[in-house]
Amino acid sequence: MSRAVIFEQYGGPEVLHAVDRPVPQVIPGHAVVRVRAAGVQPFDAMFRSGAVRERMPARFPQTLGNEFAGEITAVGKGVADFEVGTAVLGWTMQQAYSEHLSVAADQIVRKPQSMPWAEAGVISASGQTASTALEVLHIRPGDTLVVHGAAGGVGSFAVQIAVARGAKVIGTARPANHAYLRSLGAIPVDYTDDLLANLHAAADNITAVVIAAGGEQAFLATSELGLERSRVATVAFHPLAQRLEIQQITTSRSLDRLKELIRLYEQGFLSIEIARTFSLGEAKQAHALIETGHVRGKIVILP
Ligand SMILES: NC(=O)c1ccc[n+]([C@@H]2O[C@H](COP(=O)([O-])OP(=O)(O)OC[C@H]3O[C@@H](n4cnc5c(N)ncnc54)[C@H](OP(=O)(O)O)[C@@H]3O)[C@@H](O)[C@H]2O)c1
Repeated sequence: MSRAVIFEQYGGPEVLHAVDRPVPQVIPGHAVVRVRAAGVQPFDAMFRSGAVRERMPARFPQTLGNEFAGEITAVGKGVADFEVGTAVLGWTMQQAYSEHLSVAADQIVRKPQSMPWAEAGVISASGQTASTALEVLHIRPGDTLVVHGAAGGVGSFAVQIAVARGAKVIGTARPANHAYLRSLGAIPVDYTDDLLANLHAAADNITAVVIAAGGEQAFLATSELGLERSRVATVAFHPLAQRLEIQQITTSRSLDRLKELIRLYEQGFLSIEIARTFSLGEAKQAHALIETGHVRGKIVILP
């Protein structure tokens, strides 16, 4: 048997609980993975609460979790690149909070030996979201990029990838996170008073913006910057995005994108902050924490 977190109705974090289920059967083109780490995203909490039920309805009993790292325990027919025992990381659709999962072989890559499990488990969703946003904005040397929500899961990846590409990066956060942002290579800006004035004081030549977090305040300040539409994007769902004509980005996941993130990690451009780790039985606490909206870096479940 294999332990997995499920929910059987929409609701608060308390609807999550761990149950025993059969280990998934291996099928052609897939691998079965013993999960060592699973990233927790704000989306998981929205999915659990029913906030996104029109776009993505749950099928009860519903599992969850989109990013993971672990060891392969079985390989299906046609899988040539991996064998039993290979350490991998990758993405899935709503099944990572579990001891075992079945995943298509084109959604996993080898985990570098030097990468700890917890860090390997949080790259494949948040990292790829940040990477997609920077690609859409064509971030290049000479850019001055603002990242709203720079201390969070997506924001901290976006800062570091943009710095690696030669951009100057301004990151918004509470003062308590400013030393952290500096350590990632960003110029920190406080959003708790006059955000727009603070952005102008940090740089007079802002050329692009990613909104990862920050809500209405971030959207309104961004629109005041008067940038071309092609140079502003958000990964967060917010009604103001449509009204202010800010492009909303959906993550484009691919093995090439994931391999590029691993390359940046191995070259020392990416450091991954693990705010807290939880067991499968503590998924409720993990969701309560992600819902505060003030996690620095990433939360991880270690099954
Ligand atoms: N489109 C997609 O495919 C996709 C994929 C993944 C994620 N997402 C979305 O991307 C968004 C960000 O995800 P995430 O994982 O980065 O979230 P997160 O980790 O929960 O973000 C938390 C961070 O937001 C910061 N924050 C809170 N209020 C802020 C404010 N007013 N201004 C600036 N920063 C603020 C916090 O820093 P302080 O503590 O300093 O405030 C904290 O570090 C979510 O809406 C998520 O659903 C979209």
